[in-house]
Formats: sequence, C-alpha cells, structure tokens
Amino acid sequence: MPFPKADKIWMDGTFVPWDEATVHVLTPTLHYGYGVFEGIRAYPTDRGSAVFQLRPHMERLLRSARLYPPLDTIPWTVDDLVETACELIRVNGHDAGCYLRPTIILSYGEIGLNPIPSEPQTIMASWEWGSYLGEDALVNGVRVMISSYRRIGKNTIPPAGKANGQYLNSSLAKVEALRAGYDEAIMLSEDGFVAEGTGENLFVVHDGVIKTPPLSDGPLGGITRTSVMQIARDLGFEVVECSLVRTDLFLADEIFLTGTAAELTPVREVAGYDIGPRGPVTEAVQSTFIDTVRGRVDRYADWLTWVTDPS
Ligand SMILES: Cc1ncc(COP(=O)(O)O)c(C=O)c1O
Repeated sequence: MPFPKADKIWMDGTFVPWDEATVHVLTPTLHYGYGVFEGIRAYPTDRGSAVFQLRPHMERLLRSARLYPPLDTIPWTVDDLVETACELIRVNGHDAGCYLRPTIILSYGEIGLNPIPSEPQTIMASWEWGSYLGEDALVNGVRVMISSYRRIGKNTIPPAGKANGQYLNSSLAKVEALRAGYDEAIMLSEDGFVAEGTGENLFVVHDGVIKTPPLSDGPLGGITRTSVMQIARDLGFEVVECSLVRTDLFLADEIFLTGTAAELTPVREVAGYDIGPRGPVTEAVQSTFIDTVRGRVDRYADWLTWVTDPS
C-alpha cells in the first residue's frame, strides 16, 4: 500500500527531511528484527488535530523496550515522546489527521546476535494514512480466514511486546489470507484458542454479550481494545474476557476487529461461515468510537491530546 511522504522525520532530537532519514544497511535491526515500535493515529476534530491515546501508546513503547535490552536505555521519557509526537504533527502540517510510527532500533556498529553492545536509536515518522482495511470495510466488513500459522507463543517471542521482528508471524498469516482470497487472518494461540487478527484485536457478540480473548491467550494488549471495552460497558453492554475457540467465531452473531490501523472493522465472514452484515452491537460501539476519536464525546475527551492548544 503506497503511503504519502511527509516533510520531516524525527531522529533522536533532529527533524530530518523525509528522503534523508536513512540508516546503514548493516543496522542490526534490519537483520534480526530486534527493535520495538508503535502505531498511533491522530484525527481531525473541530479543535484541530488530536492524537488518540497518545500517552498509553508511548508507555507501551517503553514497556516493549524493557523487554528488549538495551532498547530501554534511550534518553527519552514518555513526556518527551508525547511532546515530540505533537511537534512532528505540527512540523508536517497534518491538519487532516495522520498515522505516527515511533520506533526504537539498534544503530549501526555491531552485527553479532548480542544486542547489548549496540546503541539504541529512536525515530518517529508520520504520514497521512487512510483506513487500513479500506473505507468500505468499515461499513460492510471483511472476510477472514483462520490462519494455519499460530500466534507467537509466550515462550518464543513475548506477545505482550510490540517488537519489529514478531511481525514476521503476522505478515506470514496476512500473505496466506490474501493468497486464499480473504482480507485478513485470525490467528489461534499455540494451544488452539482464538488470539487475534494479524494487527488487530478481536471481539465476538453472542446473545448480546461482547466477548474478547484474555491476554493470557496471546493477543497484544491493544489500546483500542481497552478503549472499546470501556465504550461498550458505558453503552450498557456486558463485556467479558474469555477464551474462545474457532467454533465460537463460526457461531457468532457479530464479530469485529479493533486496532489503531484498522480502527473498528466488522467481520462478515469467517472461513466460509457467514456472519452477516455489520450488526447492531458493532454499529453502536463503532459509532461511539468514531465520535470519540473525532473529539465529539466529552466523556472521553481525556483520551485525546490536542496538537495545538484547543483554547
Ligand atoms: C498484533 C496486534 N494486535 C492488536 C493490535 C491493536 O493494538 P492497538 O489497538 O493498540 O493499536 C495491534 C496494533 O498495534 C497489533 O499489532
């Protein structure tokens, strides 16, 4: 998917022109995937651009870094990264919203498998990115398959972190799904429970109850997931975290995916089983979610960071 260039990329304190924001080909992260990253969205609101759940994303970035020493030795705090994100959006003039990609990588200098002697490097980019699974998908839903690839196990690569290299697992599942004619893949855990999509958390609705797999079944602790659980409960729905097996998907009344990239996307088919068009529960939660990120719900105003002073 092509994405439009922005003006500048932030590299450890300096705003560098987009085309000059480069690293050496022997940068170890390029070879072994040892790095961590985040995906964050800013939305246009009637008070200017606002970033959704900015601080929790930066906190998760630094938590991921703690799993992968020495990435946790960067000099930047959550406050620094929050301020940098806002400045980057201002510098790049993203009035219509954007996607933000901070990443911490190992810089050029060492090439062995031991990451400890390497210096970490912090980079943040932003660009204007439309809906990840397509505008149409937000209304009409996507078709998903059950991947033959299992979600990375707790004792292989920690699923709680958001490490660059773990996305080999997601990308293999995504390619398999696309080649089989589906839009997205659902991954099961090593022990056969539903974990999540390749870059999205998953919710099912059974008899009006919204269910999502617990983190112990391996999904990423999605920030959209937590926000959507709160929205759904505030709308009066019962929301439970419980293990799900594939037949819970086939027999669901409604299914939807959540994530920064995919936002809240309905699922209309799972591996040949028809789930149907976007259902009433999905629509209610999705509509409040959209109003929230657009700054139209006062109750959740503190989930947004306005890039320019709203006053
Ligand atoms: C594997 C995976 N699951 C779920 C999500 C959704 O998380 P979030 O809502 O924090 O974007 C993401 C995106 O970061 C992801 O990469």
